[in-house]
Amino acid sequence: MSTHDDGARPAQDRHVPVLLQRCVDLLAPALSAPGSVLVDCTLGMGGHTEAVLEQLPGVRVLGIDRDPQALELASARLARFGDRFTPVHAVYDEVADVAAEHAGTPDGLVQGVLMDLGVSSLQLDEADRGFAYAQDAPLDMRMDQSRGMTAADVLNTYDERDLARILRVYGEERFAPRVARALVRRREEHPWERTAELADAVRAAIPAAARKTGGNPSKRTFQALRIEVNGELEVLERAVPAAIEALAVDGRIVVESYHSLEDRIVKRAIAAGITSSAPPGLPVEPETHRPYLEALTRGAEAADPAELERNPRSASVRLRAARRLRPTPDHLISSPPRKEPR
Ligand SMILES: C[S@@+](CC[C@H](N)C(=O)[O-])C[C@H]1O[C@@H](n2cnc3c(N)ncnc32)[C@H](O)[C@@H]1O
Repeated sequence: MSTHDDGARPAQDRHVPVLLQRCVDLLAPALSAPGSVLVDCTLGMGGHTEAVLEQLPGVRVLGIDRDPQALELASARLARFGDRFTPVHAVYDEVADVAAEHAGTPDGLVQGVLMDLGVSSLQLDEADRGFAYAQDAPLDMRMDQSRGMTAADVLNTYDERDLARILRVYGEERFAPRVARALVRRREEHPWERTAELADAVRAAIPAAARKTGGNPSKRTFQALRIEVNGELEVLERAVPAAIEALAVDGRIVVESYHSLEDRIVKRAIAAGITSSAPPGLPVEPETHRPYLEALTRGAEAADPAELERNPRSASVRLRAARRLRPTPDHLISSPPRKEPR
């Protein structure tokens, strides 16, 4: 637990779930039978899971998070549901293994998967996690502080070209080469340690005219570092197809993304399942080439004005959902392999 935060604040006060009822409504038709299992791949403060457990009485939830602090707080919130809730410390690209081990279904498959991507308000608000440009803290930014590189490691060891690439691609920073040059120059005098030093250096590297618009100028650099430190996009590339493979027929997947790079990965994985894989020009579509997913949303859904007003975090959400129609045909399975019935 953080030493700077009020550890007694319960999970429900720390994060307002986005598109909560829409997620439950999209998942509900797959979770109506007693014994149905949902994997919440991003348990966070357990807001979505709590709503599912309250509204759908026959469902069990496996709640994955890579952040042990999130698991601890959410488990306290969800204790009243007893063995209907199982917390699992894992990275969500392990979703198929988690389902096989904990779902207790005959084939190790589940009826629902939910992914509410990104960081939780808990992580942003905890002063000593280093995610926030507005609070001085060690440059950490790991969602799981027990392993992996910190933001300081990235800033102190990556070469200038790699830093510029990360800032440009993950942060969509227009001045990426200029900021990267300033970051490397600064570390030659003193290694990177604190978020406030980083926020000041980024501000100084960005031309004065460009600082006037678009909020805090270091926001994009902090986002880029967080994505790099946690390998967020590589993990997501593996996780969405793995989550689809963990679904039984008629199972449903709902994914909420918060920036275009995440949404593009989700969109591509769903598109692969809702389109025929038959070569063009065949007179009859072979059975094995028929789509294995049905889209449940038209494109990506956003939050409505009332939710935007209540919860600023919902401003960038893009929600996509799909239903599994049949197993993925063998010729389309790459990695990870489909689970065989046990
Ligand atoms: C936006 S929050 C989820 C909030 C949750 N839906 C709620 O209502 O409280 C995202 C959570 O996913 C976790 N997370 C992000 N990437 C992860 C990954 N690759 N594997 C496991 N957990 C991850 C974060 O630690 C964070 O707690």
